[in-house]
Amino acid sequence: MLLLFRMDANLRRGYLIFVLTLTYLATASSISLPEAILQRLKVGERIPRRPQLQIQEDAAFQRRMRSSLHPRIMAESGPTWNTLDGSPPLIIAHGGASGLFPDQTAGAYIYAASTSLQNTALSCDVQLTKDGYGICRTGINLGDSTTINATYPQLATELIVNGELIQGFFSVNLTASFVLNNISAVQSNAARTIAFDGMFPVTQPTDMIKFSLNTSLFWINVEYPSFFYQHGLNMTSYIHELISNMPIDFVSSPEVGFLKTLKSSVPKTTNLVLKVGETDKVDPSTNITYGSLLSNLSDIATYASGILVHKEYIWPVDNATLYLEAESTIIREAHKVQLAVYGYGFVNDPMIPIYNYSFDPIREYLQFVPASGSHIDGFLSDFPTTASEAIACFRGATPAVRLAGTKPFIISHNGDSGNYPGCTKLAYDGAVRGGASYIDCPVQMTSDGIAICRESPDLLIGTDVSTHSDFLKRLSLIRQFQAEKGIFSINMTWAEIQTLKATMFSPEEDFNVIRNPAYNNQEGVLQLTDFLNYAKNTSVGILIDIQNGYFLETEVDKNVVGAVLASLNASGLASSDRVMIQSEDSAILSLFRQVTNYTLIYRVVDTDVLVTKTEVSDVKALANFVTLPRALVQVASNGFLVNKTDIVDLFHAQNVSVFVSFLRNEFVALPYDYDSDPTLELDTLLKVYNVDGVITDFPATASYYLSNTCSNMKTQAIGGQQYGIQTVVPGALVTQLALNIQPPPPSQARLNVSNGERNLSLTLNAPSTSPGPNTAPTASPPSPQSEASRSLKLNITLISIIIASIIFHHFK
Ligand SMILES: *[C@@H]1O[C@H](CO)[C@@H](O)[C@H](O)[C@H]1NC(C)=O
Ligand SMILES: *[C@@H]1O[C@H](CO)[C@@H](O)[C@H](O)[C@H]1NC(C)=O
Ligand SMILES: *[C@@H]1O[C@H](CO)[C@@H](O)[C@H](O)[C@H]1NC(C)=O
Ligand SMILES: *[C@@H]1O[C@H](CO)[C@@H](O)[C@H](O)[C@H]1NC(C)=O
Ligand SMILES: *[C@@H]1O[C@H](CO)[C@@H](O)[C@H](O)[C@H]1NC(C)=O
Ligand SMILES: *[C@@H]1O[C@H](CO)[C@@H](O)[C@H](O)[C@H]1NC(C)=O
Ligand SMILES: *[C@@H]1O[C@H](CO)[C@@H](O)[C@H](O)[C@H]1NC(C)=O
Ligand SMILES: *[C@@H]1O[C@H](CO)[C@@H](O)[C@H](O)[C@H]1NC(C)=O
Ligand SMILES: *[C@@H]1O[C@H](CO)[C@@H](O)[C@H](O)[C@H]1NC(C)=O
Ligand SMILES: *[C@@H]1O[C@H](CO)[C@@H](O)[C@H](O)[C@H]1NC(C)=O
Ligand SMILES: *[C@@H]1O[C@H](CO)[C@@H](O)[C@H](O)[C@H]1NC(C)=O
Ligand SMILES: *[C@@H]1O[C@H](CO)[C@@H](O)[C@H](O)[C@H]1NC(C)=O
Repeated sequence: MLLLFRMDANLRRGYLIFVLTLTYLATASSISLPEAILQRLKVGERIPRRPQLQIQEDAAFQRRMRSSLHPRIMAESGPTWNTLDGSPPLIIAHGGASGLFPDQTAGAYIYAASTSLQNTALSCDVQLTKDGYGICRTGINLGDSTTINATYPQLATELIVNGELIQGFFSVNLTASFVLNNISAVQSNAARTIAFDGMFPVTQPTDMIKFSLNTSLFWINVEYPSFFYQHGLNMTSYIHELISNMPIDFVSSPEVGFLKTLKSSVPKTTNLVLKVGETDKVDPSTNITYGSLLSNLSDIATYASGILVHKEYIWPVDNATLYLEAESTIIREAHKVQLAVYGYGFVNDPMIPIYNYSFDPIREYLQFVPASGSHIDGFLSDFPTTASEAIACFRGATPAVRLAGTKPFIISHNGDSGNYPGCTKLAYDGAVRGGASYIDCPVQMTSDGIAICRESPDLLIGTDVSTHSDFLKRLSLIRQFQAEKGIFSINMTWAEIQTLKATMFSPEEDFNVIRNPAYNNQEGVLQLTDFLNYAKNTSVGILIDIQNGYFLETEVDKNVVGAVLASLNASGLASSDRVMIQSEDSAILSLFRQVTNYTLIYRVVDTDVLVTKTEVSDVKALANFVTLPRALVQVASNGFLVNKTDIVDLFHAQNVSVFVSFLRNEFVALPYDYDSDPTLELDTLLKVYNVDGVITDFPATASYYLSNTCSNMKTQAIGGQQYGIQTVVPGALVTQLALNIQPPPPSQARLNVSNGERNLSLTLNAPSTSPGPNTAPTASPPSPQSEASRSLKLNITLISIIIASIIFHHFK
């Protein structure tokens, strides 16, 4: 459904306003946007408003004024909360959903309000214009967060801010009319999409009302009160004016002096919160360091009801290992004097990861609401959707070991390779502990015919071979493997490979996202037989992925099929129904089909091929399952999903089950539609595409997802409402926000399943017996996996989503 209001396109002034409301996928527990939002949009020049002017024309304001602070309602069931008031932690949408949209814009606020828990607070960093109006922008330099630097570079100037000379564009030099009409918001974080830049005008604090639910709370942060006083603008009187006309539930500021001026003069329903800067920085209003301020919490409690601290005040991070250190006592101490503790710095896309969290933002939120101990009172997050998910759906989730053969399958990729060096005992242990239903061995061959488990035929990936100078001369190019030169296992004997140590491979290294190096060089390379002997004694299934098998059999004279069969026989798994064989070569699968009863998986390697019914039939003739690369299922352009593909449906129509590979938690691996949240991708693949399994570097994240307490039809009752994980509609952002993003041209080549391969014939190997170097690690850092026993509750269902957005397209 698309509603489009458009003003006279000939008008030079004003905005084109597209109002787009969207898709209700299902009915249960929809989190509905107020109808009023859609009606209240005005076309034309935006006139700056003082709060009281807006109030009179806005019935919703009146209603909100009567109710003032909405009490946060306790969760109806489930775990209790050790917050100051016993309610679940408040979610504070930092400028709305600013992780996806430019902060403090219609898009950011509406997305936040419609995808977060109901009592989520929308925040505005208020600044004052030359003529005394409030605008919502983060950062004193508007050059960072608006189009002003691009369109009015001559307006740049220099001013002293808290004692420091800054070059930039300052609200105190601009009129409100100019800010609202001549410039618009841009994404201020370089790691995030610029696709929405210039679409949304700058907002005023009162605008938050029309982009909110009637249960939303409002949080105003005043970062620079002294600066504005110095320029003749009285922030205290501005806040008075705002509070007397709009319900403001929280006012935070890093300046003690400013909070004290408000203390005596604002209603009790407005909570004052001290934003605590770095310990050695001084509060400009008192010249006292935040470190000293924090040393007397009772004093803070005389003028504030809470403190807003960086998350590392609560859980410090060892900046050498990037593991968490011991928890501080700040929450406990603050609660003793009735001070609430809110944390800031919560994002799904951190520049520097904290390895305890396995690149999964949900784990980070849960770290602050542990099973025992004090809980944080609120999360100031750029990704309030994920914070809501964590609070409503994941606290109390208790994942269990999954049984092989239960759909959806959680198949590890190189073991738990997101957390440990791939294909090591550590990685396989991590996968089993994390709840994988299958662990995988990607089979490679040594020059002397031994089958080993390795991430790649190239030992430069995932081993320390490059540090062995005597092996560097083995560097060569084998195009059947890869386009780059490598040091390949087929050019090394087992005796040589045994001297190597496994190291962490970071697939997103080009984006500077580095996986945990803590377990490098602890374990050696495993033979397939080692892997099978390990797997046999677990309850999980076994996936043997034969890579480049046809090439090895026909051109390098390596009997990989024989080696695999011999190892399976030797391990007593010859007729086990826990074993699945995967290959990208039809000839390899045909050979297995002739001589075994294993479940067979055809792996599609190419990410740019056309698949029709005919190709599906070809696959069906060969295998029980197909593994599709993620890019064939989720077609993206410029980082956005362009449409829902029907490839999974095509396979399902012929009863071929579909696995998707490879899932990764790192946000740089995710299309923007998923809000940098790996849980939303899992949810979409399993609920919207109905895939039968995922092959993932982070099996624990998938297992955790499957155990979330919102998976049941009824969703989770929390804070007096029903909350479900938001279902992403692939292509919705692009089409409904009319982004100028073209889908990639359709693939020309069709999937060629048999690929001209001749039939192979079987030769059986004697089983290899040499034992692998299975030495236990010496001193291991604490395990990033903390889940012990897990019990699975699986119920995949569509829950409703509402995406709604408003585009203000600015005429140049
Ligand atoms: C404006 O943009 C230019 C080019 O990106 C940059 O070098 C300059 O520092 C910016 N100026 C301000 C005041 O932000
Ligand atoms: C910006 O505003 C300050 C204070 O109002 C003033 O001193 C300064 O001259 C202004 N700069 C420009 C370029 O207008
Ligand atoms: C701001 O935009 C209006 C309308 O487009 C225009 O008349 C005005 O000159 C602009 N102001 C500046 C300073 O460029
Ligand atoms: C909020 O809006 C919903 C419908 O959108 C309505 O049912 C409810 O009564 C409203 N609550 C208040 C406090 O106005
Ligand atoms: C700012 O306004 C408040 C309230 O209106 C007033 O009490 C205070 O004296 C003013 N501050 C300055 C520096 O003018
Ligand atoms: C803080 O220190 C600066 C410079 O040392 C001084 O100018 C200012 O008056 C002091 N402010 C307060 C509130 O003491
Ligand atoms: C802490 O602040 C309280 C209230 O302002 C004061 O009574 C007390 O003396 C202070 N304690 C210390 C150790 O400074
Ligand atoms: C790590 O922390 C120490 C002490 O806090 C500091 O001296 C050092 O500069 C930090 N290193 C990095 C890389 O941030
Ligand atoms: C590696 O093995 C391949 C296939 O047997 C062979 O063609 C190539 O020459 C070998 N390269 C090296 C460096 O030994
Ligand atoms: C495969 O299954 C058939 C029928 O159940 C059985 O007769 C045969 O022995 C099995 N083959 C192997 C290799 O297990
Ligand atoms: C999206 O894909 C469906 C088939 O899956 C197709 O019917 C529809 O036209 C596509 N929409 C767009 C906008 O390309
Ligand atoms: C899934 O949800 C449906 C509908 O609420 C319910 O009937 C069914 O028992 C649920 N299944 C599981 C496994 O929880």
